[in-house]
Amino acid sequence: MIKILAINGSYRDDGITDQTVEALAQALVAAGAEIETILLREYPIEFCNNCRACTQQPGAEPGKCIHHDGMLELIDKIERADCYILASPTNFGSVTAIFKRFMERLAVYAYWSWDMNGPQYRKAQAPKKKALLVSSCAAPGILGRWLFGTDKQLKMTAKVTGAEIVGTLFTGMIAKEQHPKLSAGVRAKIIILAGRQV
Ligand SMILES: Cc1cc2nc3c(=O)[nH]c(=O)nc-3n(C[C@H](O)[C@H](O)[C@H](O)COP(=O)(O)O)c2cc1C
Repeated sequence: MIKILAINGSYRDDGITDQTVEALAQALVAAGAEIETILLREYPIEFCNNCRACTQQPGAEPGKCIHHDGMLELIDKIERADCYILASPTNFGSVTAIFKRFMERLAVYAYWSWDMNGPQYRKAQAPKKKALLVSSCAAPGILGRWLFGTDKQLKMTAKVTGAEIVGTLFTGMIAKEQHPKLSAGVRAKIIILAGRQV
């Protein structure tokens, strides 16, 4: 059974990101997948402090971080998953701060000893996992995807964790109501996307 790990960087309960991830999860479970959702807003993760201790050891396994917090458990879940759903709203042109904090802790996936000019991604040679990217913004979706950094940041997260992107849901024009609801059109896209993955 395909194991899916959803990592959700939204700040609020039942916003568009929660609704999208939830609808995707339901569709994927109905198609036979096993899914676990991590709400980063409830997860104890410290900021990366750029010490690069975790990047010094070579090899394909994630490096050891100096922090002993929820990220240890989360890395273990990432390692065991076959597919990720990476989700974040667009805030000031980028993923949310809690998603970015999570991203920076993915430094454990880079081998970058002090004598190297730049990092090598540990999972670059590993068999590829899959990633579905989810974002939302006030601007029209197609524009938001192109204009903002969110899409690039979610793609970077997939690359670093060794996943190829197999689908993207970038929902736009959702910020004119206090409690926006997922449209029938997006729900239909979700069913198609989920069907293709499992
Ligand atoms: C602080 C803040 C900054 C935002 N910045 C942008 C932005 O740069 N571009 C945009 O199109 N929407 C922006 N939005 C709208 C959010 O993207 C939108 O409300 C969000 O995707 C909804 O996600 P949620 O329902 O999961 O909270 C911003 C919203 C907030 C609160």
